[in-house]
Amino acid sequence: MLVLGLESSCDETAAAVVEDGRKVLSNVVASQVDEHRLYGGVVPEIASRRHAENVVGVVREALEQAGTALSDIDAVAVTYAPGLIGALLVGVNFAKGLAFSADKPLVPVHHLRSHIAANYLAHPELKPPFLCLVASGGHSHIVAVEDYTRFQVIGRTRDDAAGEAFDKAARSMGLPYPGGVYLNKAAQGGDPHAFKLPNPKVEGAPYDFSFSGLKTAVINLIHNAGQKGETLPVPDLAASFQAAVVRALSDRVMMAAEAFGYKTVALAGGVSANSCLRETLSQQCGEKGIRLFMPPLSLCGDNGAMVGAQGFYEFLAGNRADFTLNAYASRPI
Ligand code: KG4
Ligand code: ZN
Repeated sequence: MLVLGLESSCDETAAAVVEDGRKVLSNVVASQVDEHRLYGGVVPEIASRRHAENVVGVVREALEQAGTALSDIDAVAVTYAPGLIGALLVGVNFAKGLAFSADKPLVPVHHLRSHIAANYLAHPELKPPFLCLVASGGHSHIVAVEDYTRFQVIGRTRDDAAGEAFDKAARSMGLPYPGGVYLNKAAQGGDPHAFKLPNPKVEGAPYDFSFSGLKTAVINLIHNAGQKGETLPVPDLAASFQAAVVRALSDRVMMAAEAFGYKTVALAGGVSANSCLRETLSQQCGEKGIRLFMPPLSLCGDNGAMVGAQGFYEFLAGNRADFTLNAYASRPI
């Protein structure tokens, strides 16, 4: 079964053709990152406009690279939530038009579900149930993936998402947007013990995260140094901040795996590209005899292939949308 996956929840316009939820036949991403970098973050209005301009070409290229015609496609899957509402609406309306005109089923896909499904494309042996740490720019969840379309949220962030904290901390260090990837690079030459940063816990919720205090601690360090006419070494600051975020993420996911008896753990979302997170979890899972699955770097960020993968499983579960499908800025997994 061939699914065309469409993604436009943030600043990538993406389309892909995926076979049986597991095999990528094409994966085309038009990133707007260079334009948003000028403003230090995603400008929603610009994102919507660029999606509208790019979507036709991206879908056409995805079909062409896969060697498929629209008539060969069995279903059109689209990200409908959560994300920037104007950006999502472009993908949803385009998918509706395409599905209606070609008489194909329309499948709504939740963005976090699709991030999890990125793992299915790289790891044929991975099947639910497993525990997944989903960390992106907008969300940080520990999710029990009970089945392909059944999820239980075990922990979540109470304030900033991990990616958002990376981006804001990076910005305060003078690093470009998107901060996560630049902070990760800057940290490579730094000492993770150079600065003592808090390890925030959420009272009574052992699997929940809180990153805003950590972000503020870094901003305060930089501000206080600035007042004294000093500048702090960015590599040390980046490495210390990264270590604190990774500790918070990895400690909780390992604790949850043990408490809920999971022997398989997966990583998902943009932050799963972080080298320190990948190394730390690989080591900790190795020590505990837990199998760890991570998406390849090419599938960590937003893309259409993960939508095609999850769309396949949503289709099998009977999840279809009619032409009243709407987009939602927030929606539980
Ligand atoms: O999943 P994603 O591409 O978009 C959303 O759904 O939000 O995640 C983007 C987030 C950004 O905050 C970005 O800075 C972060 O993922 N990110 C990273 C790295 N690469 C991307 N954070 C830390 N280290 C990285 N290497
Ligand atoms: Zn995402």
